[in-house]
Amino acid sequence: MSFTKPFLKWPGGKFRLLHRINEKLDPGKRFVEPFVGSGAVFLNTDYKKYLLADTNPDLINLYLHVQKNEKSFIDYCQSFFTPESNNEERYYQYRTQFNSSKNIRLKSALFLYLNRHCYNGLCRYNSKHEFNTPFGRYKKPYFPKKEIENFHTASQSATFIHASFVETMKQIKRGDVVYCDPPYAPLSKTAYFTDYFAGGFGWEEQIELAEWAAKLSKKGIPVLISNHNTDNTRALYKKAGATTEKFLVRRTISCKTNQRNKVEELLAVF
Ligand SMILES: C[S@@+](CC[C@H](N)C(=O)[O-])C[C@H]1O[C@@H](n2cnc3c(N)ncnc32)[C@H](O)[C@@H]1O
Repeated sequence: MSFTKPFLKWPGGKFRLLHRINEKLDPGKRFVEPFVGSGAVFLNTDYKKYLLADTNPDLINLYLHVQKNEKSFIDYCQSFFTPESNNEERYYQYRTQFNSSKNIRLKSALFLYLNRHCYNGLCRYNSKHEFNTPFGRYKKPYFPKKEIENFHTASQSATFIHASFVETMKQIKRGDVVYCDPPYAPLSKTAYFTDYFAGGFGWEEQIELAEWAAKLSKKGIPVLISNHNTDNTRALYKKAGATTEKFLVRRTISCKTNQRNKVEELLAVF
C-alpha cells in the first residue's frame, strides 16, 4: 500500500507507522489531530472534515498559506530553492531574515526553505523563539512540489489552528475521532527530546493528555495516542483506562543519522 508523503521533514513524524495507526482509527464525521506536525496521518485518512492543530505558529502559518495558495504561494516557495541559495552564507542570511521578519508570507516560505536546507530537518528554537538549527550541507535540497500540491488539495476540508492540545481538546464533540501524537515521553530520565517549538512538554502534560483522552472516551469519542513504549507510558495509559499495543520500529532518535535504533512504540486506544 502506498501512502501520501508529507512535504516537511518532521522529527517524530509518523509516516512509517501509518499502517498501524490507520487500522486503529474508527469512522467518524471529523478527524482531530491536536499535534499535527507534518500531517502524515491526516494526509492518509479519509474523513469529511479535519481539525488540525499545533503549538508551532510557523508550521500553522505555512499550512494556512499552502491551503489558500494565493498568488501561487507554491511557486513563491520554489523560488528560494536555487543552487545559489544552497550555501552556508545564504542559509544564515535567510535564517536571520526568517527570525526578524514580520511578513508572514515571506516567513512561511522561508520556513520551508529552512526545513529542507537545515541539519536533519530539525525544528529547533532558542529561548527567544529564534530558529537556530545550523546549515545542513545537502547537495541538492529537494523541492517537494508534488507533496505540497497534495497537501493543498487535502487541506481544503481542514481547519488549522495554532493551539495547545488543551485548547483543541475543549473543541472536540461527538462524532469526532481523535489521534494524538504528543512529543515523545523520555526513554530514560536523561534522554528528553526538546527539538520542538520552545515551551516544553513534560510528564505533567503527558498525564493531562491521558486524562483528557479518558474523559472524551467516556463521552463516546474515540481517542488514539501514540508514544514510546516505556514502563511509565504503559502504566499511565492503562491507569487511564486504555488498552495498549506495542511494536518495534526502526527510527532515528539521536541527532546522528547513522545511529538508528530499534525503539518500541506504543498505541493506546481509549
Ligand atoms: C511527534 S510531533 C507530531 C508528528 C506528526 N504526527 C507527524 O506525523 O508528523 C509532535 C508535535 O506536537 C507539537 N506540540 C508540542 N507541544 C504541544 C502542545 N502543548 N500542544 C499542541 N502541540 C504541541 C510539536 O510542535 C510537534 O509538531
